[in-house]
Amino acid sequence: MNNMRSQDWDPKSAAVLRDQRAAFDEMRERCPVAYSDLLGWSLFRHEDLVRVLNDPVTFSSVVSRNLSVPNGMDPPEHGQYRRLIEPYFAPHAMQAFEPQCRSLAADLVRSLHGRAGLDLMEGFAHPFAVRVQCVFLGWPASMHEPLRAWAQKNHAATFAQDRTAMVEIAREFAGYVTELLQVRRGTGVQGSQDVVGSLISQQVKGRPLNDEEIISILRNWTVGEISTIAAAVGVVAQYLAEHTALQQQLRTQPGALPDAIEEVLRLFGPLLANRRVTTRAVEIGGRSIAAGERISLNWVAANRDGRVFSDPQSFRSDRDASANLLYGAGIHVCPGAPLARMELRVAVQALLDGTAGIEPIAGRAPTSAVYPASGFATLPLHLTFPSPPVVHQR
Ligand code: HEM
Repeated sequence: MNNMRSQDWDPKSAAVLRDQRAAFDEMRERCPVAYSDLLGWSLFRHEDLVRVLNDPVTFSSVVSRNLSVPNGMDPPEHGQYRRLIEPYFAPHAMQAFEPQCRSLAADLVRSLHGRAGLDLMEGFAHPFAVRVQCVFLGWPASMHEPLRAWAQKNHAATFAQDRTAMVEIAREFAGYVTELLQVRRGTGVQGSQDVVGSLISQQVKGRPLNDEEIISILRNWTVGEISTIAAAVGVVAQYLAEHTALQQQLRTQPGALPDAIEEVLRLFGPLLANRRVTTRAVEIGGRSIAAGERISLNWVAANRDGRVFSDPQSFRSDRDASANLLYGAGIHVCPGAPLARMELRVAVQALLDGTAGIEPIAGRAPTSAVYPASGFATLPLHLTFPSPPVVHQR
């Protein structure tokens, strides 16, 4: 008997990878609920994503046997862990962290002086994301390179669907954290000194968090931060390079940055998709989906849905931002959004403050990142720097 199911699309086909955003737009209009062997049922319409996000009973987040805190959990367990992690992203914690982020971003921009024809992903976006995450977690600078390489391997293994490599990569991350936990426990460093030390002293279900849970929390924060922040920085930098009027406006009105960043990232989502699994048979967009089927929520397509956003392909600073699904919605809405918003504001501000101009380079087009990443793989940009003040000798 032939168990092969016919595919509505292939997310890894050359045509899709050439321009994922255009391909998702096309799918949303032609086949908004589409089956592929790689992703199961992809949903592209805003309305369908909102339905799933608001019904965690029918659309479960327990998509794998591996522990994933709190991403891969359903209520009531999800809420127990979610309550525990939210304070790490509270306004006072973000305010306290912002000055370090600022000086890190300014240092990185200064390090770009004299580099004509720079790849902004390699020179700024990736190092910014990795360094900021290390500072946030209280990890040493010696972790920058291992963490960058780890995130890259993680993407490559996901692209190749290489389960053996994925297990090895998970083990590698666990190794980093276990070492840090041993150091903390060995020296009795507990309490709120840093994130790892603080997690050791957290209680869940009436007992301390165990190592497996701490490793999972930190892995989800790291995966959540590194690739999306780097992609988002690249997307915004490229948009400003292409739209000089907006770039000039933001140079003189930094207060407009947060809304502008959110609208640019609606236009070009830095995160492709998240998963669910059906707990009962459902009908979505006229398609019948059985219980136990995989669902993939395509954020990029949903945020460009003309049924919800008028003139969806245009930047509009006066939009009602409440429909923007950049950080999701419902019980799994991104808990790291306050950190992400602060990091992105600080990174873009540093790029604007530290340069006189950001421009594309004629003849050197950016290359797109591919599944499971979004944004750009390489982003050649020309940065001009303000001339140093002339010091007159008397
Ligand atoms: C531009 C940057 C970011 C974007 C676009 C983003 C987007 C999202 C989205 C759309 C979700 C919902 C997923 C779902 O419904 O399945 C989510 C969840 C999550 N994000 Fe983010 N995120 C970003 C940055 C971060 C950062 C900086 C962290 C932590 C350091 C983080 C940690 C998480 C975690 C732990 C979840 C799971 C929450 C839960 O299951 O309750 N994210 N993120």
